[in-house]
Amino acid sequence: MKFDLLHTDINSKARAGVITTDHGVIETPIFMPVGTAGTVKGVHQRELKDDINPDIILGNTYHLYLRPKTEILEKAGGLHKFMNWDRNILTDSGGFQVYSLSGRRKIKEEGVKFKSHIDGSYHFFSPENVMEIQRTIGADIIMAFDECTPYPCDYRYAQRSMHMTHRWLDRCINHLEKVPTKYGYDQAFFPIVQGSTFKDLRAQSAEYIANAGAVGNAIGGLSVGEPAEEMYEMCEVVTNILPKDKPRYLMGVGTPINILENIALGIDMFDCVMPTRNARNGMLFTSEGFINIKNKKWADDYSPIDPMGNTWVDTDYSKAYLRHLFVADEYLGKQIATIHNLGFYMWLVREARRQIIAGTFYAWKEKMVKQMATRL
Ligand code: GUN
Repeated sequence: MKFDLLHTDINSKARAGVITTDHGVIETPIFMPVGTAGTVKGVHQRELKDDINPDIILGNTYHLYLRPKTEILEKAGGLHKFMNWDRNILTDSGGFQVYSLSGRRKIKEEGVKFKSHIDGSYHFFSPENVMEIQRTIGADIIMAFDECTPYPCDYRYAQRSMHMTHRWLDRCINHLEKVPTKYGYDQAFFPIVQGSTFKDLRAQSAEYIANAGAVGNAIGGLSVGEPAEEMYEMCEVVTNILPKDKPRYLMGVGTPINILENIALGIDMFDCVMPTRNARNGMLFTSEGFINIKNKKWADDYSPIDPMGNTWVDTDYSKAYLRHLFVADEYLGKQIATIHNLGFYMWLVREARRQIIAGTFYAWKEKMVKQMATRL
């Protein structure tokens, strides 16, 4: 994997760059649609390519390991072939889902014993077996196995957990060297900064992660319930330490406003379930603010879903029709809303990139942040 930094903003730390992998280029800043279980929920791969057009999507080790299971993916020749997606994929390590989804879990130095949220069966994840599973899934970018601390988190716990995540990182790196890639293309490995909401821990963790010398770095443990200001403070500390010539990925973030603020702090990559999950609940993001399409006020509003939107659903369908689909609980409503929201998120990061390159990012970001906070 290669990262070329093309431009850094003069009024903020925002950057525009290009990541190149064996599955093509990723223009940064980028938003990666979440395809947890080998599908971006409700969207055909063809629509994803033609209408939303992301350079990269996300998959999840925890989900794919439990279902369809690693052997099925291996026999298919990896996740790209299994799901018929020939662009980039990044897999999260399960270091988040094990804590947020599984019924019961026991964290020890060796690894985590957890109970499947699907059938209640018990499983064990360690830095070593998670690296093997990610080799078999075959994503282009794979993540370290870490512990994502909850919010709030007491200092002692955050400190102990951060040190364990660092020891786990060393184990991931050692083990990856022993397990070759399986499908003839490269896999880039990203370590993850932890340290909860404590500036000194975040700085210490960022130093440790920077020293690992990986081709890209991630920041975890944020957007877990802390106020946005605290998230920004942590990103500020960490982006001042992480190397400038490597991409920086802020995991699980966030709202359109969070994304712009964190781009200004020097983040290059984002993923979040918000555009897809909120779409399924009838919440639409637009450049003018957000809409709850189930609201009665849209019942006879025949204007386009988003006249400024950049996907065909935005102008082919009216707000009144989309509201009707949601009220009638029709599948198509969720599909239309998902395409709209992903289209909006992709527009947002691409426009941010354009503004960074044009030297107008900061003023544009300030205007957008005010506009997007409005409920329509
Ligand atoms: N997704 C969101 N936050 C995190 C995190 O801290 N760790 C991992 N592995 N994934 C995440």
